[in-house]
Amino acid sequence: ADVVLLRSQLLSWYDQEKRELPWRTLAVTESDINIRTYAVWVSEIMLQQTQVATVKDYYNRWMKKWPRVQDLAAATLEEVNQMWAGLGYYSRGKRLHEGAQKVVTELKGQMPQTAEELLKQLPGVGRYTAAAVGSIALGQVTGAVDGNVIRVLCRLRAIGADSTSPAVTEALWNLANSLVDRERPGDFNQAMMELGARVCTPKGSLCSQCPVQSHCRSYRKVHFKQEQNSKKL
Ligand code: ADE
Repeated sequence: ADVVLLRSQLLSWYDQEKRELPWRTLAVTESDINIRTYAVWVSEIMLQQTQVATVKDYYNRWMKKWPRVQDLAAATLEEVNQMWAGLGYYSRGKRLHEGAQKVVTELKGQMPQTAEELLKQLPGVGRYTAAAVGSIALGQVTGAVDGNVIRVLCRLRAIGADSTSPAVTEALWNLANSLVDRERPGDFNQAMMELGARVCTPKGSLCSQCPVQSHCRSYRKVHFKQEQNSKKL
């Protein structure tokens, strides 16, 4: 029951507070699954090492020039690099291009349609990106754990252990998978990212604005210290 409440509180907050970002709009308005998957893949690769505010314009220009995976596959690497100029980490653009060519030549133009296949088939797509695209574009019920989400989950469960250790990483993925909303996994994951970017930030947490404050063990620890010993990490 507690997790059901957490999901609905987080999603209500997201519905009210979310930033309108082009890939979010597309993920709900585009009916073609191949275009949706391609578009969210592009956005997630761009967002890997670049801030949302910068990515927006690049993403819009990219999608205007190459609206379908076939369009990207037909481009030259020079055009891709030119389009990428200023975003940094150029191998990301190269991998998108390679991935698009693979989709066209080896997968009959069909984008992979599960997180597992995305991970297996596309260069530059790791566990997080596969889960993000799988949930946002394909509605797959999976958590998606990136740096922001790690911080949010560690605070939510007052996990003080080294979050880069394999055991903790695995525990965080299990936690994310158990929390993710069954009906709206993509929105739930983006709500977690939004919470990490806007409320539960690296510089500190704005707990008074947090939609899941009542579920947060770190908050409880700080504000009700006497309960500390009765709460398990
Ligand atoms: N960072 C990575 N993916 C994101 C998304 N879909 N929305 C906002 N920030 C993100």
